[in-house]
Amino acid sequence: MKIAPNIHQRFHYRTLEELQEELARLGLELPFDRDFSILGEPLQIGRWRAPNRFVVQPMEGFDAGPDGSPGELTFRRYRRYAVGGSGLIWFEATAVMAEARSNPHQLFIHRGNLDSFKRLVEETRRAARAVNGDEPVLVLQLTHSGRYSKPAGEPTPIIAHHNPILDPLHGLPPDYPLVTDEYLDRLQEVFLAAAELAARAGFDGVDIKSCHRYLLSELLASFTREGKYGGSLANRTRMLRETVARIAVSVPGIFVTTRLNVYDGLPYPYGWGVSQEDPKSPDLCEPIALVGELVKLGIPLLNVTMGNPYYNPHLNRPYDLPIAGMKLPDEHPLVGVARFVALTRAIQEAHPGLPVVASGYSWLRHLMPYLAAGVIKTGGATMVGQGRGAFAYPDSVRDILEKGRMDPAKCCVTCSACTQLMRDGEMTGCVVRDSEIYGPKYRHRALL
Ligand SMILES: Cc1cc2nc3c(=O)[nH]c(=O)nc-3n(C[C@H](O)[C@H](O)[C@H](O)COP(=O)(O)O)c2cc1C
Repeated sequence: MKIAPNIHQRFHYRTLEELQEELARLGLELPFDRDFSILGEPLQIGRWRAPNRFVVQPMEGFDAGPDGSPGELTFRRYRRYAVGGSGLIWFEATAVMAEARSNPHQLFIHRGNLDSFKRLVEETRRAARAVNGDEPVLVLQLTHSGRYSKPAGEPTPIIAHHNPILDPLHGLPPDYPLVTDEYLDRLQEVFLAAAELAARAGFDGVDIKSCHRYLLSELLASFTREGKYGGSLANRTRMLRETVARIAVSVPGIFVTTRLNVYDGLPYPYGWGVSQEDPKSPDLCEPIALVGELVKLGIPLLNVTMGNPYYNPHLNRPYDLPIAGMKLPDEHPLVGVARFVALTRAIQEAHPGLPVVASGYSWLRHLMPYLAAGVIKTGGATMVGQGRGAFAYPDSVRDILEKGRMDPAKCCVTCSACTQLMRDGEMTGCVVRDSEIYGPKYRHRALL
């Protein structure tokens, strides 16, 4: 019996067979493989070596000190990831300047707190070596939060263009000023300086974050902007290309990469990677062309993502429950998983020599490794990331690689409580599986 792809369902599959039956009912196909050995294969990323194909995706904990230094819970999070055994840890969004923070407790790297980032890197490497005898590749995500800047707890949007869908959500008037070209020129220098600091702190790579509608992601969709950062593809991609090029040339000893939205799900002319006729249809011509330019500039790795967590979070992370006040999407989460797999595959197949990291797998819980192995084996990606799954079950990779299975009782349940804490301006982590730390923060919310 067929089921409707536009009806939301919660995850309820115990076995791969049950999941496959649901996919058949939806008329969808995904590649699965019961042999997980490919997931344990090392990978060369430029001159760096990841011991396996798993990535911890960047997940903000919002537990930095007032000066942006990692706090006690930040150290705890990365120790747990390190012990967990992923081949690459993609450190969470870290602001490059104070006004670029999305939360007063977001990490922020600057000259004054370099030592604390050095300690974070050293502790992460030491913890991984002690338990796994090997070190993961460490990438730091550098960000400017743009439209979602909240450095002192109140929204202070810095926007690249006016958007009739998103502007009203922040109460932005039509004459709200746009970020200037001069600001963006200077921002390139700021990213360069932050990359230099990241190299000194001991990271292997830096990510010039270009996703989820933060500033560089918004620039990619700035069709209506005038001047050198808007309009044509060359102009809209200028900020990312020039910043990557400057870091690649001027910061030796570190690689530069990006976490890139390939599909915004917003209508043209406000969405990137979107068909001009239908925002529900992706059009990857421009993202594929941009990735080609970035490969020419020497990026050895790409992390693919999509959507806007504030506007269309189901594109960004299929889930069972939404945050407070948000409706469930008119979409079966497997449709979202299949979209992620298809668009990531399109990028990977267009650039087969470039290691591509896949996202959006946590909804699959303990069945995730079957899809991860199937996708990598069929050339749909080179590595697979876990975001919410890593919050909930940081040592899942050791279980997969050593025991050949994940424990369903430890998996993320995609309840959105971690996002809810974040939206409430709290420190965040897994309320369900790490409840001793994060449960009280969430329960306190329920009592408000
Ligand atoms: C609480 C929370 C914090 C996040 N922080 C970041 C971040 O710092 N940078 C980023 O690129 N994505 C961030 N994301 C998105 C995740 O990295 C990931 O792409 C998303 O959750 C989908 O992957 P998953 O299904 O494995 O969770 C965050 C998501 C959540 C729920």
